[in-house]
Amino acid sequence: MSAKLNLITRPRRNRKSPAVRGLVRETVLHPSDFIYPLFLHESPENHPIHSMPGCHRWSLEGLVGEVGAAAAVGVRAIVLFPKIEEHLKSSHAEECFNPDGLVPRAIRALKAAYPDVAVITDVALDPYNSDGHDGIVETTPQGDLRILNDETVGILCRQALCHAEAGADIVSPSDMMDGRVGEIRASLDDAGYEEVSILSYTAKYASAYYGPFRGALDSAPKSGDKATYQMDPSNRREALREAELDIAEGADMLMVKPAGPYLDIIRTLRDTFDLPLAAYQVSGEYLMIKSAARDGWIDETKVMMESLTGIKRAGADMILTYFAKQAATFLREHG
Ligand code: PBG
Repeated sequence: MSAKLNLITRPRRNRKSPAVRGLVRETVLHPSDFIYPLFLHESPENHPIHSMPGCHRWSLEGLVGEVGAAAAVGVRAIVLFPKIEEHLKSSHAEECFNPDGLVPRAIRALKAAYPDVAVITDVALDPYNSDGHDGIVETTPQGDLRILNDETVGILCRQALCHAEAGADIVSPSDMMDGRVGEIRASLDDAGYEEVSILSYTAKYASAYYGPFRGALDSAPKSGDKATYQMDPSNRREALREAELDIAEGADMLMVKPAGPYLDIIRTLRDTFDLPLAAYQVSGEYLMIKSAARDGWIDETKVMMESLTGIKRAGADMILTYFAKQAATFLREHG
């Protein structure tokens, strides 16, 4: 056997130098791909969140500062998650449409300070609901929990309207109730907010990866789980059905959540539909990288960039990630 193989095709030629690899690179991340989820609370102080190293529950002032810091490295979109004080929670989550509530005040402060940053709001009841569910809970005489779909949608519409009035650019229903995109669209349009977009959590799975987030907001369900509204992790065709409905109801953008364990769902929706597609790298995905890196098992920066590249390669146009500022900073310096 001669030492020299008679190969016409040698794929390694396209990998021979950084410059050549740069020419043939198929997926490139940009800071403008990222949506930065931020937590806020009613306090003048910023509290580090134990379960999510590097994340804080921000005061209003801290929030504005963090958005400025993220914008300075090119992150142009954020999404807000409030921690609501226990005494403001109720079974019908009325605080979610209080025009002087924490989220509307944050939207106004952010739009005043950084009008060019897109403010996205989460539309769901769990931070406001004394039951910790995304919808209104009814307990049957047998003691079973029922989530009331249509009653919940009515409240979600008021919440979305409240965010639009405060200046939100995009509202993002994460509740998984049936019919909510269409009803929210109609409510916004009736009130003259036809320019406010809807980023729908289309395929949101009943995932154990949300654990650290629920700890951060104290928003875990008090009893039962979310399996009657969030999707079964085993299902793919059902995501297509949800997407068809969201599109028919007027969604502007679709979302898959979580991201890393659901790359096939991202690819399926990308190949089947034309709408812009978001993917949410959730708290558990973030924490697994952070904690493995903290223990010295993996290289945090490399795994962060690889995980985000994988999500974009799977077909996501935009990525919600707690790494947004960190990854954008890296891209600034090395991209
Ligand atoms: C709830 C909501 C959740 C997340 C975003 N919005 C948690 C849940 O559905 O229980 C999770 C985000 C994360 O884990 O990073 N409306």
